[in-house]
Amino acid sequence: MKNLQNKHILLGVTGGIAAYKGAELIRRLQDSGAEVRVVMTRAATEFITPLTMQALSGFPVSLDLLDTETESVMGHIELARWADLVLVAPASANFLAGLRQGRGDDLLTTLCLAATCPIAVAPAMNQAMWGNVATQENCAGLRRNGVIFFGPDEGLQACGEIGQGRLLDVAHIVEHTCAIFPSNLLTGKTVMITAGPTREAIDPVRYISNHSSGKQGYALAEAAVEAGAKVLLISGPVALAVPDRVTVINVVSADDMYAAVMENITECDIFIGVAAVADFKPVAAAVQKIKKQHDTEPRTMTLTLVENPDIIASVAALPTPPFLVGFAAETENLLTYASEKLNRKGLDLIVANDVADSRIGFNSDNNGTTIISKDKVTPLAVASKRQVSVQIIQVIADLLNTRELSK
Ligand code: C5P
Repeated sequence: MKNLQNKHILLGVTGGIAAYKGAELIRRLQDSGAEVRVVMTRAATEFITPLTMQALSGFPVSLDLLDTETESVMGHIELARWADLVLVAPASANFLAGLRQGRGDDLLTTLCLAATCPIAVAPAMNQAMWGNVATQENCAGLRRNGVIFFGPDEGLQACGEIGQGRLLDVAHIVEHTCAIFPSNLLTGKTVMITAGPTREAIDPVRYISNHSSGKQGYALAEAAVEAGAKVLLISGPVALAVPDRVTVINVVSADDMYAAVMENITECDIFIGVAAVADFKPVAAAVQKIKKQHDTEPRTMTLTLVENPDIIASVAALPTPPFLVGFAAETENLLTYASEKLNRKGLDLIVANDVADSRIGFNSDNNGTTIISKDKVTPLAVASKRQVSVQIIQVIADLLNTRELSK
């Protein structure tokens, strides 16, 4: 999806080894629909040539404040007004210090002073420079003033040291950039999402569960919020941070999840069931820990299970159900099983994914899915769960729109 369509991004590149990644960043921002113009500091030109950046962006690269040639194409004040976002990547410690002080001693800092749009920075520097008190104080001050930070990341650095200070990878910089421009696709809508696994108690210390990580559900919650929706996440036990502006209700078992959903569902326009709800639970959990018996022969033990409520089918059975989206994780006959589930559970959409493929699905950061509605099958390319979520939200919004227009 192109959610930077018609957006003007002024890419500032400062001097550091990560400057070469600016070239890839131009391309990926353009892929998302943005028009990119580049400003480089003199130090940046020691690492990557303005010619490369000019060829990729399709516009002359501005280097100096008083350069008559580029000023005649677009003056620095005009350039600052043109931008919907100033994105500085990589941002060096020196640049951040200058920005903090409000200096205007080169073109990039002057542009930042003149810009009225948001400013985002993706710092990249040696880990000790990043950890330095002066840098940290500068960054804290910039954050207070509304400068948005993308990263830095942790890991092996060009200097051979390991630590925080690496430029965030280009895909994440683009994702964060997209998040600055909400699509408004779901403005005014309330979305409930179930995510993660459930745990069904066997006794006070043991449970039955599955490998769901919650990543897809959390990524959808984030994408829905960025599309302008109010989001309520009903989450099973996962090790993930709750995305900004998302309200979460934490649950453990399928029964807890069912209760939390039913209590809040009347307020919702859209329900997305991503949770891998355990199909069965022990009929009764033992009150005390089940003890081993030290017999000479291995003992067998039988657990009697009973089916859990089907949460999404229960929502579908409500008198006025919301728009319903289910997920079908399958290991074979993906499309047949998923379509059958769409009809049996009374859903508007089902997102089918092949969990037998270890590159995608349950614990992976990526997903390869097919979206199935009553009259359409839309395969999506393998992409990050975040990118897949943005596309799913787009499909939901399109279908809802058509439905509302035909009322
Ligand atoms: O039947 P199956 O578990 O494969 O269906 C998957 C879909 O149904 C998912 O959207 C899942 O969140 C939902 N589901 C549910 N309650 C259950 C089982 C599945 O809401 N007990």
